[in-house]
Amino acid sequence: VAALAGQQLPRRTLTLPPGEQTKSLAHLAEICRWLAQNGATRKSTLVAMGGGVIGDLVGFAAATYMRGIQYIQIPTTLLAQVDSSVGGKVAVDIPEGKNLVGAFHQPAAVYIPIDLLQHLPSRQFNNGMAEIWKYGFIMDRELTERLQKNPQPTGNDLHEIIEACIRHKAHVVAEDEFETKGLRAILNFGHTVGHAIEQALGYSSLLHGEAISIGMVAESRLGELLGLTPPGTTQIIRSCLEASSLPTRFFAQFGPQHMHQDRLADPEALVNAMRRDKKATSGKLAFSLLTSIGGCKLIDGVEEQFVYQALQEI
Ligand SMILES: NC(=O)c1ccc[n+]([C@@H]2O[C@H](COP(=O)([O-])OP(=O)(O)OC[C@H]3O[C@@H](n4cnc5c(N)ncnc54)[C@H](O)[C@@H]3O)[C@@H](O)[C@H]2O)c1
Ligand SMILES: [Zn+2]
Repeated sequence: VAALAGQQLPRRTLTLPPGEQTKSLAHLAEICRWLAQNGATRKSTLVAMGGGVIGDLVGFAAATYMRGIQYIQIPTTLLAQVDSSVGGKVAVDIPEGKNLVGAFHQPAAVYIPIDLLQHLPSRQFNNGMAEIWKYGFIMDRELTERLQKNPQPTGNDLHEIIEACIRHKAHVVAEDEFETKGLRAILNFGHTVGHAIEQALGYSSLLHGEAISIGMVAESRLGELLGLTPPGTTQIIRSCLEASSLPTRFFAQFGPQHMHQDRLADPEALVNAMRRDKKATSGKLAFSLLTSIGGCKLIDGVEEQFVYQALQEI
């Protein structure tokens, strides 16, 4: 990203290495010390330019340096543009878990350089598409239909779609900023299963969007099994996500003609991880489930047998 921004970078810029490992307490300390050494005050503004890793880390530095300074997000990945840069959730990871140390700290502004997406590798682009499909599935039937016609949007089409997603996220966050009213949690469709998959795989082989793609298919099937999601929805969702080259099965396929299949993780390990999900209360599983394509509802106290069945079937 630093190379892409080139000559336009301001003089006082700290460049950090790419990768999830950068979202650490060590790099948080590095940023805070760099701020102090450069004479940053309570009136200073920090600018985060990069993907979600940089946005979360720099946002958390802004939340804590001198008990909180102003910051601006310039998200450069599709995922960061439609999701992580808006909403004020900032955090770092610790070895015990992802995003375990963080804060709610809203950016003063978010600037979206859409033209930088042309440099993004297609796997990273599709990673962001998973979150875009999610907004369609949970709250925007029109967006879903638009994406079905064109699952690889570019140009003005992409511009409008990014804008629609930000409006949805901003609307939900404005209603339930601190995730206490059960509304913000609807954005977690696909994420209860998705986070469990990421945790079971150690955040290495699948990107976040890929894990939640599988998660959305599993949770759609779960909704069908519970009689909440209309029958046939899972099949529609699966073909949508596959049109954006996202994985949708609980099996990883390897080798020539996918001769060899491996289960992504042990269902029991996944359900254990789900019990530790932030939405779960006293060991009962909670999910954001579809009531239609374009509508959803937070359901708690879901019986584990249905979760196992959904995982098995997909
Ligand atoms: N705060 C939130 O609400 C929220 C929501 C979703 C995800 N997240 C967090 O976001 C992080 C993932 O973010 P991400 O998917 O953006 O990954 P990322 O920040 O790791 O970026 C992915 C890669 O793309 C590179 N890159 C960035 N912009 C580029 C560009 N324009 N062209 C070419 N390469 C570019 C980066 O250097 C990096 O190597 C995770 O840590 C996740 O926890 C936070
Ligand atoms: Zn997500």
